[in-house]
Amino acid sequence: MSTNFELLCLLFSVALSVLLGPNFATGSTIGVCYGMVANDLPPPREVIDMYKSNQIGRMRLYDPNPEALEALRNSGIEVLVGVRNEDLQQLAGSYSAAENWVATYITPYSLQVQFRYIVVGNEIFPGNSARYVLPAMQNLQNALSSGDIKVSTSIATSVLGVSYPPSAGAFSEDTIEYMVPIAQYLNNIGAPLLANVYPYFAYIGDPIDISLPYALFASETVVVTDVGLSYDNLFDTMVDALYAALEKAEAPQVQVVVSETGWPSDGNREVTTPENAQIYNSNLISHVLSSRGTPRRPGNSTETYLFAMFNENMKPGAAVEQHWGLFYPNKSQVYPVNFPVETLKHKTWFQKLMQWIIQSAQSAFGKHIYGHN
Ligand SMILES: *[C@@H]1O[C@H](CO)[C@@H](O)[C@H](O)[C@H]1NC(C)=O
Ligand SMILES: *[C@@H]1O[C@H](CO)[C@@H](O)[C@H](O)[C@H]1NC(C)=O
Repeated sequence: MSTNFELLCLLFSVALSVLLGPNFATGSTIGVCYGMVANDLPPPREVIDMYKSNQIGRMRLYDPNPEALEALRNSGIEVLVGVRNEDLQQLAGSYSAAENWVATYITPYSLQVQFRYIVVGNEIFPGNSARYVLPAMQNLQNALSSGDIKVSTSIATSVLGVSYPPSAGAFSEDTIEYMVPIAQYLNNIGAPLLANVYPYFAYIGDPIDISLPYALFASETVVVTDVGLSYDNLFDTMVDALYAALEKAEAPQVQVVVSETGWPSDGNREVTTPENAQIYNSNLISHVLSSRGTPRRPGNSTETYLFAMFNENMKPGAAVEQHWGLFYPNKSQVYPVNFPVETLKHKTWFQKLMQWIIQSAQSAFGKHIYGHN
Protein backbone atom coordinates (compact mmCIF):
# COMPACT_ATOMS: atom_id res chain seq x y z
CA MET A 1 0.00 0.00 0.00
CA SER A 2 1.40 3.36 -0.93
CA THR A 3 2.41 5.79 1.74
CA ASN A 4 0.35 8.46 0.00
CA PHE A 5 -2.78 6.42 0.42
CA GLU A 6 -2.08 5.91 4.11
CA LEU A 7 -1.38 9.57 4.50
CA LEU A 8 -4.69 10.37 2.83
CA CYS A 9 -6.54 8.02 5.18
CA LEU A 10 -4.77 9.60 8.11
CA LEU A 11 -5.73 13.10 7.02
CA PHE A 12 -9.30 12.01 6.37
CA SER A 13 -9.65 10.43 9.80
CA VAL A 14 -8.02 13.32 11.56
CA ALA A 15 -10.27 15.79 9.76
CA LEU A 16 -13.36 13.79 10.66
CA SER A 17 -12.31 13.40 14.27
CA VAL A 18 -11.61 17.10 14.56
CA LEU A 19 -14.89 18.03 12.91
CA LEU A 20 -16.97 15.59 14.87
CA GLY A 21 -15.09 15.34 18.12
CA PRO A 22 -17.10 17.98 19.96
CA ASN A 23 -20.37 16.40 18.82
CA PHE A 24 -19.41 13.11 20.36
CA ALA A 25 -18.78 14.77 23.68
CA THR A 26 -21.37 13.85 26.26
CA GLY A 27 -23.54 16.44 27.87
CA SER A 28 -22.96 15.04 31.31
CA THR A 29 -21.57 17.06 34.15
CA ILE A 30 -21.66 13.96 36.35
CA GLY A 31 -18.97 11.33 36.29
CA VAL A 32 -17.92 8.42 38.47
CA CYS A 33 -14.43 7.69 39.84
CA TYR A 34 -13.07 4.34 38.74
CA GLY A 35 -10.91 3.43 41.74
CA MET A 36 -9.04 0.13 41.52
CA VAL A 37 -7.70 -0.47 45.03
CA ALA A 38 -9.18 -3.95 45.13
CA ASN A 39 -8.34 -7.48 44.07
CA ASP A 40 -11.80 -8.59 42.97
CA LEU A 41 -12.95 -6.08 40.36
CA PRO A 42 -14.19 -6.97 36.88
CA PRO A 43 -11.72 -6.35 34.03
CA PRO A 44 -11.67 -2.78 32.61
CA ARG A 45 -13.51 -3.75 29.43
CA GLU A 46 -16.49 -4.92 31.48
CA VAL A 47 -16.30 -1.86 33.72
CA ILE A 48 -16.45 0.47 30.72
CA ASP A 49 -19.52 -1.47 29.52
CA MET A 50 -21.09 -0.86 32.94
CA TYR A 51 -20.48 2.89 32.54
CA LYS A 52 -22.19 2.77 29.16
CA SER A 53 -25.17 0.70 30.25
CA ASN A 54 -25.68 2.98 33.26
CA GLN A 55 -25.40 6.13 31.09
CA ILE A 56 -22.37 7.41 32.99
CA GLY A 57 -20.69 9.78 30.55
CA ARG A 58 -17.57 10.71 32.49
CA MET A 59 -14.88 8.85 34.41
CA ARG A 60 -11.97 9.66 36.68
CA LEU A 61 -9.05 7.25 36.34
CA TYR A 62 -6.39 7.53 39.04
CA ASP A 63 -3.53 6.44 36.85
CA PRO A 64 -3.10 5.93 33.13
CA ASN A 65 -4.06 2.26 33.25
CA PRO A 66 -3.38 0.99 29.70
CA GLU A 67 -6.12 -1.64 29.79
CA ALA A 68 -8.70 0.94 30.82
CA LEU A 69 -7.48 3.44 28.20
CA GLU A 70 -7.66 0.71 25.54
CA ALA A 71 -11.24 -0.09 26.57
CA LEU A 72 -12.20 3.60 26.50
CA ARG A 73 -11.43 3.90 22.78
CA ASN A 74 -14.52 5.10 20.93
CA SER A 75 -16.65 4.77 24.06
CA GLY A 76 -17.72 8.42 24.05
CA ILE A 77 -16.82 8.55 27.76
CA GLU A 78 -14.82 11.60 28.78
CA VAL A 79 -11.99 10.83 31.15
CA LEU A 80 -9.83 12.56 33.75
CA VAL A 81 -6.49 10.78 33.90
CA GLY A 82 -4.28 10.92 36.94
CA VAL A 83 -0.50 11.11 37.12
CA ARG A 84 0.82 8.82 39.85
CA ASN A 85 1.99 10.78 42.89
CA GLU A 86 5.31 8.92 42.78
CA ASP A 87 5.98 10.22 39.25
CA LEU A 88 5.69 13.90 40.20
CA GLN A 89 9.31 14.49 41.11
CA GLN A 90 10.63 13.18 37.82
CA LEU A 91 8.01 15.02 35.77
CA ALA A 92 8.82 18.25 37.62
CA GLY A 93 12.55 17.92 37.01
CA SER A 94 12.64 16.87 33.39
CA TYR A 95 10.78 18.20 30.38
CA SER A 96 11.72 15.11 28.40
CA ALA A 97 10.15 12.91 31.12
CA ALA A 98 6.95 14.91 30.62
CA GLU A 99 7.17 14.49 26.84
CA ASN A 100 7.70 10.82 27.38
CA TRP A 101 4.68 10.58 29.69
CA VAL A 102 2.47 12.26 27.11
CA ALA A 103 3.86 10.11 24.29
CA THR A 104 3.19 6.95 26.30
CA TYR A 105 -0.20 7.62 27.88
CA ILE A 106 -1.96 10.27 25.81
CA THR A 107 -0.82 10.42 22.19
CA PRO A 108 -1.52 6.76 21.33
CA TYR A 109 -5.14 7.20 22.44
CA SER A 110 -5.87 10.84 21.80
CA LEU A 111 -7.90 10.45 18.62
CA GLN A 112 -10.23 7.87 20.14
CA VAL A 113 -10.27 8.66 23.84
CA GLN A 114 -11.75 11.93 25.06
CA PHE A 115 -9.30 13.20 27.64
CA ARG A 116 -10.78 15.95 29.74
CA TYR A 117 -8.07 16.84 32.24
CA ILE A 118 -4.72 15.45 33.31
CA VAL A 119 -4.77 15.31 37.12
CA VAL A 120 -1.25 16.06 38.31
CA GLY A 121 -1.21 14.57 41.80
CA ASN A 122 -4.02 13.73 44.22
CA GLU A 123 -4.24 15.38 47.66
CA ILE A 124 -0.57 16.39 47.75
CA PHE A 125 -0.74 19.59 49.87
CA PRO A 126 0.95 20.12 52.25
CA GLY A 127 3.52 17.39 51.98
CA ASN A 128 6.95 16.46 50.72
CA SER A 129 5.86 16.36 47.09
CA ALA A 130 3.99 19.69 47.14
CA ARG A 131 6.85 21.58 45.49
CA TYR A 132 6.84 19.25 42.46
CA VAL A 133 3.23 19.80 41.47
CA LEU A 134 3.43 23.15 39.65
CA PRO A 135 6.60 22.38 37.65
CA ALA A 136 5.18 18.96 36.74
CA MET A 137 1.94 20.62 35.61
CA GLN A 138 3.88 23.14 33.50
CA ASN A 139 6.08 20.50 31.88
CA LEU A 140 3.08 18.31 31.07
CA GLN A 141 0.99 21.20 29.74
CA ASN A 142 3.84 22.25 27.46
CA ALA A 143 4.34 18.68 26.32
CA LEU A 144 0.65 18.38 25.41
CA SER A 145 1.17 20.11 22.10
CA SER A 146 -2.53 20.70 21.54
CA GLY A 147 -4.06 23.08 24.05
CA ASP A 148 -7.31 21.11 24.14
CA ILE A 149 -6.31 18.96 27.08
CA LYS A 150 -5.60 20.88 30.26
CA VAL A 151 -3.65 19.92 33.34
CA SER A 152 -4.80 20.49 36.90
CA THR A 153 -4.27 18.94 40.31
CA SER A 154 -6.73 17.44 42.75
CA ILE A 155 -6.78 18.88 46.26
CA ALA A 156 -8.41 17.95 49.55
CA THR A 157 -10.50 20.72 51.12
CA SER A 158 -8.01 20.66 54.00
CA VAL A 159 -5.88 23.04 51.89
CA LEU A 160 -8.20 25.68 53.29
CA GLY A 161 -7.21 27.17 56.62
CA VAL A 162 -10.61 28.83 56.89
CA SER A 163 -13.70 27.39 55.23
CA TYR A 164 -16.54 28.89 57.24
CA PRO A 165 -18.39 31.06 56.54
CA PRO A 166 -17.80 30.34 52.85
CA SER A 167 -16.89 33.93 52.00
CA ALA A 168 -13.99 33.68 54.48
CA GLY A 169 -12.50 30.73 52.58
CA ALA A 170 -8.71 31.04 52.36
CA PHE A 171 -5.77 28.74 51.77
CA SER A 172 -3.98 27.66 54.94
CA GLU A 173 -0.58 28.96 55.97
CA ASP A 174 1.13 25.69 55.13
CA THR A 175 -0.37 25.38 51.62
CA ILE A 176 -0.57 29.00 50.50
CA GLU A 177 2.96 29.13 49.06
CA TYR A 178 2.02 26.30 46.67
CA MET A 179 -1.67 26.99 46.13
CA VAL A 180 -1.42 30.65 45.12
CA PRO A 181 1.01 30.11 42.21
CA ILE A 182 -0.96 27.03 41.13
CA ALA A 183 -4.25 28.94 41.23
CA GLN A 184 -2.72 31.72 39.14
CA TYR A 185 -1.28 29.25 36.66
CA LEU A 186 -4.70 27.57 36.28
CA ASN A 187 -6.23 31.02 35.82
CA ASN A 188 -3.74 31.79 33.03
CA ILE A 189 -4.24 28.56 31.10
CA GLY A 190 -8.02 28.47 31.57
CA ALA A 191 -8.04 25.25 33.58
CA PRO A 192 -10.18 24.38 36.60
CA LEU A 193 -9.03 23.44 40.09
CA LEU A 194 -10.08 19.90 41.00
CA ALA A 195 -11.23 19.35 44.57
CA ASN A 196 -12.30 16.32 46.58
CA VAL A 197 -15.31 17.61 48.51
CA TYR A 198 -16.74 15.46 51.28
CA PRO A 199 -19.73 16.75 53.27
CA TYR A 200 -19.64 13.31 54.96
CA PHE A 201 -16.31 14.02 56.67
CA ALA A 202 -17.35 17.58 57.57
CA TYR A 203 -20.51 16.17 59.13
CA ILE A 204 -18.87 13.41 61.16
CA GLY A 205 -16.26 15.92 62.32
CA ASP A 206 -18.97 18.16 63.80
CA PRO A 207 -22.36 16.43 64.08
CA ILE A 208 -23.45 18.89 66.77
CA ASP A 209 -23.29 21.98 64.59
CA ILE A 210 -24.00 20.35 61.24
CA SER A 211 -27.37 18.69 60.65
CA LEU A 212 -27.62 15.46 58.71
CA PRO A 213 -30.30 16.77 56.28
CA TYR A 214 -28.05 19.77 55.50
CA ALA A 215 -25.20 17.37 54.66
CA LEU A 216 -27.52 15.15 52.55
CA PHE A 217 -29.05 17.98 50.43
CA ALA A 218 -32.28 17.24 52.27
CA SER A 219 -32.80 20.46 54.20
CA GLU A 220 -36.03 22.21 53.34
CA THR A 221 -34.90 25.53 54.68
CA VAL A 222 -31.93 27.85 54.33
CA VAL A 223 -29.33 26.86 56.92
CA VAL A 224 -26.55 29.38 56.35
CA THR A 225 -26.72 32.99 55.18
CA ASP A 226 -23.39 34.58 54.31
CA VAL A 227 -22.75 37.94 52.60
CA GLY A 228 -26.35 37.90 51.39
CA LEU A 229 -26.09 34.39 49.92
CA SER A 230 -28.37 31.57 51.11
CA TYR A 231 -27.20 27.98 51.52
CA ASP A 232 -29.42 24.94 52.03
CA ASN A 233 -26.69 22.33 51.53
CA LEU A 234 -23.20 21.79 52.87
CA PHE A 235 -21.71 20.84 49.50
CA ASP A 236 -22.27 24.34 48.10
CA THR A 237 -20.71 26.02 51.15
CA MET A 238 -17.61 23.86 50.72
CA VAL A 239 -17.34 24.64 47.00
CA ASP A 240 -17.91 28.35 47.61
CA ALA A 241 -15.22 28.44 50.29
CA LEU A 242 -12.84 27.26 47.56
CA TYR A 243 -14.10 29.98 45.20
CA ALA A 244 -13.50 32.57 47.93
CA ALA A 245 -9.94 31.25 48.42
CA LEU A 246 -9.32 31.36 44.65
CA GLU A 247 -10.54 34.95 44.51
CA LYS A 248 -8.18 35.92 47.34
CA ALA A 249 -5.38 34.22 45.39
CA GLU A 250 -6.20 36.49 42.43
CA ALA A 251 -7.44 33.57 40.37
CA PRO A 252 -11.08 34.59 39.93
CA GLN A 253 -11.63 32.79 36.59
CA VAL A 254 -10.74 29.35 37.90
CA GLN A 255 -13.69 26.97 38.07
CA VAL A 256 -13.94 24.33 40.76
CA VAL A 257 -14.50 20.80 39.46
CA VAL A 258 -15.45 18.34 42.20
CA SER A 259 -13.15 15.43 41.44
CA GLU A 260 -14.53 13.24 44.26
CA THR A 261 -17.59 13.27 46.45
CA GLY A 262 -19.87 10.61 47.89
CA TRP A 263 -21.21 8.93 50.98
CA PRO A 264 -20.20 5.53 52.36
CA SER A 265 -22.88 2.86 52.69
CA ASP A 266 -21.36 1.05 55.68
CA GLY A 267 -18.65 1.24 58.33
CA ASN A 268 -19.83 3.99 60.70
CA ARG A 269 -23.05 2.92 62.41
CA GLU A 270 -26.33 4.57 61.46
CA VAL A 271 -24.70 7.43 59.52
CA THR A 272 -23.39 5.15 56.80
CA THR A 273 -26.36 3.21 55.53
CA PRO A 274 -27.20 2.38 51.93
CA GLU A 275 -30.24 4.66 52.43
CA ASN A 276 -28.12 7.69 53.37
CA ALA A 277 -25.66 6.98 50.58
CA GLN A 278 -28.53 6.74 48.14
CA ILE A 279 -30.08 9.99 49.41
CA TYR A 280 -26.76 11.84 49.16
CA ASN A 281 -25.85 10.62 45.71
CA SER A 282 -29.33 10.96 44.20
CA ASN A 283 -29.76 14.46 45.60
CA LEU A 284 -26.26 15.38 44.46
CA ILE A 285 -27.03 14.25 40.91
CA SER A 286 -30.27 16.29 40.81
CA HIS A 287 -28.50 19.28 42.31
CA VAL A 288 -25.71 19.17 39.75
CA LEU A 289 -27.99 18.53 36.79
CA SER A 290 -30.31 21.36 37.85
CA SER A 291 -27.58 23.78 36.73
CA ARG A 292 -28.30 25.89 39.80
CA GLY A 293 -24.60 26.19 40.44
CA THR A 294 -23.56 27.50 43.84
CA PRO A 295 -24.73 30.77 45.40
CA ARG A 296 -21.34 32.33 44.59
CA ARG A 297 -21.37 30.99 41.00
CA PRO A 298 -25.04 30.72 40.13
CA GLY A 299 -26.25 29.29 36.85
CA ASN A 300 -23.24 27.11 36.17
CA SER A 301 -23.53 23.50 37.23
CA THR A 302 -20.56 22.14 39.14
CA GLU A 303 -18.84 19.38 37.15
CA THR A 304 -18.76 16.53 39.66
CA TYR A 305 -17.37 13.00 39.97
CA LEU A 306 -18.94 10.52 42.38
CA PHE A 307 -16.66 8.39 44.48
CA ALA A 308 -16.77 5.59 43.57
CA MET A 309 -17.78 2.96 41.07
CA PHE A 310 -16.95 -0.03 43.32
CA ASN A 311 -16.45 -0.97 46.91
CA GLU A 312 -12.67 -1.36 47.11
CA ASN A 313 -11.59 -4.12 49.47
CA MET A 314 -7.93 -3.15 49.67
CA LYS A 315 -8.37 0.47 50.73
CA PRO A 316 -6.54 1.01 54.01
CA GLY A 317 -7.85 3.14 56.85
CA ALA A 318 -11.14 3.44 58.71
CA ALA A 319 -13.94 0.91 58.25
CA VAL A 320 -15.87 3.25 55.92
CA GLU A 321 -13.02 3.31 53.41
CA GLN A 322 -14.02 0.05 51.77
CA HIS A 323 -17.68 1.08 51.35
CA TRP A 324 -17.88 4.00 48.96
CA GLY A 325 -19.01 2.06 45.91
CA LEU A 326 -22.18 2.34 43.87
CA PHE A 327 -21.55 -1.29 42.87
CA TYR A 328 -20.21 -4.45 44.44
CA PRO A 329 -17.37 -6.11 42.56
CA ASN A 330 -19.92 -8.66 41.30
CA LYS A 331 -21.56 -5.72 39.44
CA SER A 332 -24.77 -5.64 41.45
CA GLN A 333 -25.82 -2.27 42.83
CA VAL A 334 -25.19 -1.52 46.49
CA TYR A 335 -28.24 0.76 46.30
CA PRO A 336 -30.12 2.12 43.32
CA VAL A 337 -28.84 5.36 41.78
CA ASN A 338 -30.03 6.48 38.40
CA PHE A 339 -28.06 8.56 35.98
CA PRO A 340 -30.63 10.42 33.91
CA VAL A 341 -30.40 9.69 30.20
CA GLU A 342 -29.32 13.26 29.49
CA THR A 343 -25.98 12.37 30.97
CA LEU A 344 -25.06 10.41 27.87
CA LYS A 345 -26.59 12.31 25.00
CA HIS A 346 -28.18 10.28 22.28
CA LYS A 347 -26.30 10.44 19.05
CA THR A 348 -28.06 11.48 15.90
CA TRP A 349 -28.15 9.05 12.98
CA PHE A 350 -25.57 11.25 11.25
CA GLN A 351 -23.15 11.03 14.17
CA LYS A 352 -23.67 7.27 14.31
CA LEU A 353 -22.91 6.97 10.60
CA MET A 354 -19.79 9.11 10.96
CA GLN A 355 -18.65 7.12 13.96
CA TRP A 356 -19.12 3.92 11.97
CA ILE A 357 -17.00 5.35 9.13
CA ILE A 358 -14.27 6.40 11.55
CA GLN A 359 -14.30 3.07 13.32
CA SER A 360 -14.15 1.16 10.04
CA ALA A 361 -11.26 3.29 8.86
CA GLN A 362 -9.53 2.73 12.16
CA SER A 363 -9.92 -1.01 12.15
CA ALA A 364 -8.78 -1.19 8.53
CA PHE A 365 -5.82 1.13 8.88
CA GLY A 366 -5.56 1.44 12.65
CA LYS A 367 -2.07 0.04 12.92
CA HIS A 368 -0.74 2.35 10.26
CA ILE A 369 -2.61 5.40 11.41
CA TYR A 370 -2.32 5.16 15.15
CA GLY A 371 0.28 2.51 15.83
CA HIS A 372 3.38 3.82 17.48
CA ASN A 373 5.32 0.57 17.33
C1 LIG B 1 -19.80 28.77 33.18
O1 LIG B 1 -18.68 27.96 32.95
C2 LIG B 1 -18.04 28.19 31.72
C3 LIG B 1 -16.90 27.24 31.60
O2 LIG B 1 -17.29 25.93 31.82
C4 LIG B 1 -17.56 29.62 31.67
O3 LIG B 1 -16.97 29.87 30.41
C5 LIG B 1 -18.72 30.56 31.90
O4 LIG B 1 -18.25 31.87 31.97
C6 LIG B 1 -19.46 30.24 33.20
N1 LIG B 1 -20.65 31.03 33.32
C7 LIG B 1 -20.99 31.64 34.44
C8 LIG B 1 -22.32 32.33 34.45
O5 LIG B 1 -20.29 31.63 35.43
C1 LIG C 1 -23.02 -9.40 45.08
O1 LIG C 1 -22.27 -9.18 46.25
C2 LIG C 1 -23.03 -8.70 47.35
C3 LIG C 1 -22.06 -8.38 48.49
O2 LIG C 1 -21.20 -9.42 48.72
C4 LIG C 1 -24.11 -9.68 47.73
O3 LIG C 1 -24.87 -9.19 48.80
C5 LIG C 1 -25.00 -9.92 46.53
O4 LIG C 1 -25.97 -10.90 46.81
C6 LIG C 1 -24.16 -10.36 45.33
N1 LIG C 1 -25.03 -10.39 44.15
C7 LIG C 1 -24.99 -11.39 43.28
C8 LIG C 1 -25.92 -11.29 42.13
O5 LIG C 1 -24.23 -12.35 43.41
